Amino acid sequence: MSRPVVTAQPAETVALAAQRMREHKVGSVVVTDHDDRAIGILTERDMIRLAAAGSDASSAKVSEWMTADPDTIGPDMEARAAFASLAERGYRHIPVVDDGGGSAAARKLVGIVSMRDLMRVAMIQPADAQAHEMPKGLEGVVVADTTVGDVRGLEGFYHYRQYNAVDLAKSRPIEDVWQLMFEGRLPTTLAEREAFAAKIRPRRAIPPAVLEVLPAIASAGDVFVPLDALRTAVSQYGAALGFRPSHDIDGETLGDNAMSTCAVVPTLICALWRLRRGLEPVAPRDDLSYAANYLYMMQGAVPTPEHAAAVEKYLISTVDHGFNASTFTARVITSTGADLGAAVVGAIGALSGPLHGGAPSRALQMLDEIGTPERAEPWLRAAVERGDRLMGFGHRVYKTDDPRSLMLREVADSLGGDKMELARHIEATAVKVLDELKPGRRLYTNVEFYAGIVMDRCGIPRELFTPTFAASRVIGWCAHILEQAADNRLIRPSAQYVGPPPPEPVPPISV
Ligand SMILES: CC(C)(COP(=O)(O)OP(=O)(O)OC[C@H]1O[C@@H](n2cnc3c(N)ncnc32)[C@H](O)[C@@H]1OP(=O)(O)O)[C@@H](O)C(=O)NCCC(=O)NCCS
Repeated sequence: MSRPVVTAQPAETVALAAQRMREHKVGSVVVTDHDDRAIGILTERDMIRLAAAGSDASSAKVSEWMTADPDTIGPDMEARAAFASLAERGYRHIPVVDDGGGSAAARKLVGIVSMRDLMRVAMIQPADAQAHEMPKGLEGVVVADTTVGDVRGLEGFYHYRQYNAVDLAKSRPIEDVWQLMFEGRLPTTLAEREAFAAKIRPRRAIPPAVLEVLPAIASAGDVFVPLDALRTAVSQYGAALGFRPSHDIDGETLGDNAMSTCAVVPTLICALWRLRRGLEPVAPRDDLSYAANYLYMMQGAVPTPEHAAAVEKYLISTVDHGFNASTFTARVITSTGADLGAAVVGAIGALSGPLHGGAPSRALQMLDEIGTPERAEPWLRAAVERGDRLMGFGHRVYKTDDPRSLMLREVADSLGGDKMELARHIEATAVKVLDELKPGRRLYTNVEFYAGIVMDRCGIPRELFTPTFAASRVIGWCAHILEQAADNRLIRPSAQYVGPPPPEPVPPISV
């Protein structure tokens, strides 16, 4: 357990308690009375509730937002039992009190145990003793500390560092967000913004050694799978630029690799797609905004400001999203000390799966198949009854509206178009059908549903939907790669063996 405990008084303001949490880098404070007894706990989750309710932390009292009479454990409880207690109740922190000889009145606060403390202990336990505690798909398991950002699934909120991601998408260009992700701060002056953008521009051009092999990469296979091509091109890019293992280079060099890779990915996507269609790649233009340049390199024509702004919002909203599968993949690969190219290539592979990044074109396909509002209910009902997954619905973390989908719905509305009315009808019907046929699962639209509609309206071909997702997510991957490398430990979990008991004698082969 951790000692001394960071505490707060019930009459203090939430703002003061929050400041103390930040100073001590903890996710909760235990609220104590004058006799040092734990009478409540105030966590980061409570802060979010408070913000969501529009309350003012500088006047709200700790006693109004804390969980009163929190569950506690005694100092003698076994680590595994404490872990079970936390996991079962969905807590991340639990106060430790001495039992004062059994009298409730005398139960003094002596420490606090966090999931993190217990995970540390769990690492030295044999795998079979604790593996069964792990939910399938590692749902809810905290595997690292990060300052890059987080997703609050129950509150329907996500953030890049300390800022609401949707607010950033609505108010800043993507280069500012990129700087925030890499350097930890937003530019505060135009000169600062320009200085960062100036680092990006020259890195957007594809180096000759990569350009040379792009036609071969673009033409491989009977069917063009852009993410496969991108994966190969990024691999080639890392080799051409001589990326070295992150283990062997300093943070500055790794940061330089990251800047170059993020800058070139959109150019690679557009060049590969154009080459496959027998068109010449279009070189980037420095006078266009980030998204305008992306659409220009893809379509060969400067887009309307509305389309460029819509795509830029989409790109910003998908830069990062907690420990999703591709981000985790990038961090695992980086933890081995491998080079940044390897980590990005692995992340692209993870993103290519339909359960992660491959859904927006499938969501649009569903819209096409349904075709008219009257067909929505029977079509959706039949699909869910067959056991199919409705693409663009459901999320591992969000159990309420996905804030990205809400923002993209607004963007799609402003762009108009014939698909919007049908999309809104399908969304409402699907949520109703899912609620009826999958009760309690809390399935709503995710980012992919309206992303497809926005991209379609802006002239992005369906096969480039997921690559466009990769064009922005690479910034998030790289922010995580830099963070992982800066404080690295090999990620090497365990599995619970559930096959036939070993060791069995190896049988001879029959002739
Ligand atoms: C995103 C996703 C993979 C998250 O999955 P998860 O957290 O592993 O959820 P589970 O697979 O445990 O699903 C829980 C239940 O909800 C159901 N469910 C989840 N998403 C569903 C969907 N889109 N359509 C129908 N049912 C769905 C599952 O069938 C399961 O039902 P069950 O309890 O009867 O078996 C899942 O919601 C999905 O496949 N969505 C469609 C693909 C998609 O849009 N991907 C983009 C994600 S941003």
